[in-house]
Amino acid sequence: MTEQNTGTLYGLGVGPGDPKLVTLRALEVLKSVDLVFAASSPKNDYSLAFNIIKEHLSPTMQVRTLDFPMTKDAEVKQRAWRANARAVLAQLEAGRDVAFLTIGDPLTYSTYGYLVQTLLEMAPQTKIETVPGITAYNAAAARLNLPLVEDRQSLSVISGVNDPAEISRLARRGDTVVILKTYKNYDSILDALGPLDNGRRAYTVCSCGLEDELTAADPESLRGSKMPYLSLMIIKSKPGD
Ligand SMILES: C[S@@+](CC[C@H](N)C(=O)[O-])C[C@H]1O[C@@H](n2cnc3c(N)ncnc32)[C@H](O)[C@@H]1O
Repeated sequence: MTEQNTGTLYGLGVGPGDPKLVTLRALEVLKSVDLVFAASSPKNDYSLAFNIIKEHLSPTMQVRTLDFPMTKDAEVKQRAWRANARAVLAQLEAGRDVAFLTIGDPLTYSTYGYLVQTLLEMAPQTKIETVPGITAYNAAAARLNLPLVEDRQSLSVISGVNDPAEISRLARRGDTVVILKTYKNYDSILDALGPLDNGRRAYTVCSCGLEDELTAADPESLRGSKMPYLSLMIIKSKPGD
C-alpha cells in the first residue's frame, strides 16, 4: 500500500465538558472520519468525551474503545500500548481515517500521548494531525475570570496523584500552580499546601462546564467531601507579583 492510500489519525481534544467548547476543526474532523476510537478507562474519560460530542456523530459512526491499563507494571502498559497502536494502524493501512477522542487537550495528561508515541515508533510515516482542545484548567480559569499568569509570572501544571511531599515542593515553584487530578488525595493535597502565605489564593473547580459544576474560592470548605474525578485546583499569587 502506498502512503497516499493510508488513512490519517486525528487526535481530537473535545474540551473539558461544555459541548460549545469543542473546536470547529474537531467538528469538521468528526464529520469526515470513518471510525472513532477512545480510551476505555475506569474513570470513564471515554464516556465523558463521547457525551461531549455525541450530538455531532452520525448514528452509523463506528466507535471502538482501546484499553489503557492503570497499572505501575511498565511491561503490561507497553504491551497494551503496542496492541492499541496495532489496532489503529490496521485501520489506517486499510485506508480509513480515524479519530481518537480525549477530554480537554489531547497532549495534556492524555492516553493519546502514549498512542501517538508508540505509533510513531512502530510506523514513523504515520499521518497524524493532533487537534488541540481547551484544557480543563483554561476553562476553570475562565469560569473564575482569573488571569492565570501576568507579566513575568510563571505557571506550573502538576498532578495531584503525586505524593504529598512532592506536591508541597512543586506547589511552591512558580507564581501560579494548577493541580489536576485532585479527586483522589484532596485532603492530603490541602495538608501539603498548608496555609497560603504572601497573599496567595486557592480555588477548586469541579465538573467545569457540566451540570454539576462547583467552584470554591475556599478549597478548605470541601475538606472531607468525596471529590468527583473532574476536579482541579488553581493556586495563584497576588496579581502582578
Ligand atoms: C487525565 S486528566 C485529563 C486532562 C485533559 N486532557 C485536559 O487537557 O484538561 C483528568 C483530569 O483533568 C481535570 N479535568 C478534566 N475535565 C475537567 C472539568 N470539566 N472540570 C474540572 N476538572 C477537569 C481533572 O483534574 C481530572 O482529574
